[in-house]
Amino acid sequence: MNVLTPSRLRLGVNIDHVATIRNARGGEHPDPARAAQIVAQAGGDGITVHLREDRRHIRDEDLQRVFEATGLPINLEMAATDEMLEIALRHRPHAACIVPERREERTTEGGLDAAGQHNRLAPIVARLSDAGIRVSLFIAPEPRQIEAAMKLGAPVVEFHTGEYAHAEGEQVAVELRRIVDMAALAAKNGIEPHAGHGLTYDNVQPVAAIPQLAELNIGHYLIGEAIFCGLETSVRKMRQLMDEVR
Ligand code: PXP
Repeated sequence: MNVLTPSRLRLGVNIDHVATIRNARGGEHPDPARAAQIVAQAGGDGITVHLREDRRHIRDEDLQRVFEATGLPINLEMAATDEMLEIALRHRPHAACIVPERREERTTEGGLDAAGQHNRLAPIVARLSDAGIRVSLFIAPEPRQIEAAMKLGAPVVEFHTGEYAHAEGEQVAVELRRIVDMAALAAKNGIEPHAGHGLTYDNVQPVAAIPQLAELNIGHYLIGEAIFCGLETSVRKMRQLMDEVR
């Protein structure tokens, strides 16, 4: 595939919050592995899971089951810690997206400071890459973070779209412009740009229309919508909205 003009925008579905609902009661229902199967039936291109340090949603024992439930590529979101590196090397997902993680945050609230953490990230990126895992860095759409990703040799960056998703009024266009420009800059430098966080039916299309983007990762909204219309329907609708603008 040509990095500059990916033909199809892939949809990675983050199924963490199926596990959040399960964990609210203990037990095994609803099962994230079943969600992974439904995402595959609905035309999703990948499954994303974030194994957090506090295991608040996906847990260690879920990983293997989710991997075995579907032939879709798995994108493991992980903090840059020795523990997560060891888990990633054991399970060998298709991709690993390195995210910042703070215990007290409700979700991944900002991008990774790839520029400021070069020395911490370099051995982790190298060991994941050596194991054949496609490394992505979850960064703010900023030139210095793309430069840092280049220095680290990461083949993929995922832009944090939270600022865009939460912007109001004229600021929406400003935030969108940053993603547009940074997607072009990343692709020009041979890095495949992805995007995600806070995307919904209402705000996805301007992002999906950015030609260099190869993948969107969407979770909370799709799982929330699934309560009303079912997971297969929510994934199909998102897929359709993305396809309409490509
Ligand atoms: N991509 C990354 C790297 C994330 O950390 C998250 C949130 O966990 C998402 C995408 C999906 O964000 P949302 O759940 O808001 O759709």
